[in-house]
Amino acid sequence: MTEDSESAGIAVVTGGATGIGFATVAQLIEAGWRVALFSQTRGRVEAAAVKLRARFPVCKIHADTVDLRDQDGLGRFFANVRERWGAVSALVCNAGYSPKGPDGQRLALSNIPLAQWDHVIRVNLTGAFLSCREVLPGMAEARQGRIVLIGSLAARTQPKIAGASYVASKSALAGLARSIVSEYAGLGITANTICPGRIPTEMTGPPETAGNRAALARIPIERLGRPEDIARVVEFLVRPDSDFINGAIIDVNGGEFVPT
Ligand SMILES: NC(=O)c1ccc[n+]([C@@H]2O[C@H](COP(=O)([O-])OP(=O)(O)OC[C@H]3O[C@@H](n4cnc5c(N)ncnc54)[C@H](OP(=O)(O)O)[C@@H]3O)[C@@H](O)[C@H]2O)c1
Repeated sequence: MTEDSESAGIAVVTGGATGIGFATVAQLIEAGWRVALFSQTRGRVEAAAVKLRARFPVCKIHADTVDLRDQDGLGRFFANVRERWGAVSALVCNAGYSPKGPDGQRLALSNIPLAQWDHVIRVNLTGAFLSCREVLPGMAEARQGRIVLIGSLAARTQPKIAGASYVASKSALAGLARSIVSEYAGLGITANTICPGRIPTEMTGPPETAGNRAALARIPIERLGRPEDIARVVEFLVRPDSDFINGAIIDVNGGEFVPT
């Protein structure tokens, strides 16, 4: 039995309780989507749900606490969404982890412990793979689907602050998207990667940090990014008539990096 009412579709946003993920959830709700979100911290998920219900009193949301590294827990989350609403039509792989050294700078590659490397790959890359694997069969059956992977500027050019594990994991997302395109493009499914530039969030800290001030100095439009800058692009990509945008890597960085 599924809850029934008209909606733009059913979206899942991983890491949707804060930052870019939260802005994306709000943007999708505004566009008429039912949205399921999770992050690993119960208090943040609950706070997000309260904020969303206050802002959108009649919205349909499903908010839960899941650690992306817990494959069974992740499977239960997607099964609950399917049971409640039916097949997922858009997946935004947004959750990410970017550990820093004690001074807020990156750990030198030769000092990265294997456990930390594994943690980063597990969340940023394997978590995205597992989430895609959960939704692709339903999308293929429905012959429609939208997958958006949140990469990073650090995967597009010489990284300034991000560590090697983060850069490697985010770079690999473009390969994941390419594989989805080659296997699923004929089934109405698109996969695109958005690479955000510097945006103050829980992950990157407030605008006043040294890292954010240094980033601001590099950005030609003379402002840091906002979570909504990314959320609007996601909402555009998941529209039905965005189907010709497939396999793209979309830089959203205020002009800090412009590929040739
Ligand atoms: N902000 C930037 O400048 C920037 C630039 C480029 C790319 N990005 C990417 O944008 C995405 C969103 O980041 P953000 O800046 O919005 O930071 P954020 O607010 O810290 O969001 C990261 C999200 O990932 C979730 N997450 C991390 N580990 C998880 C795990 N094991 N299981 C489940 N959820 C987990 C976090 O949940 P908890 O809070 O519960 O840990 C949080 O909801 C990330 O993929 C990040 O790499 C950000």
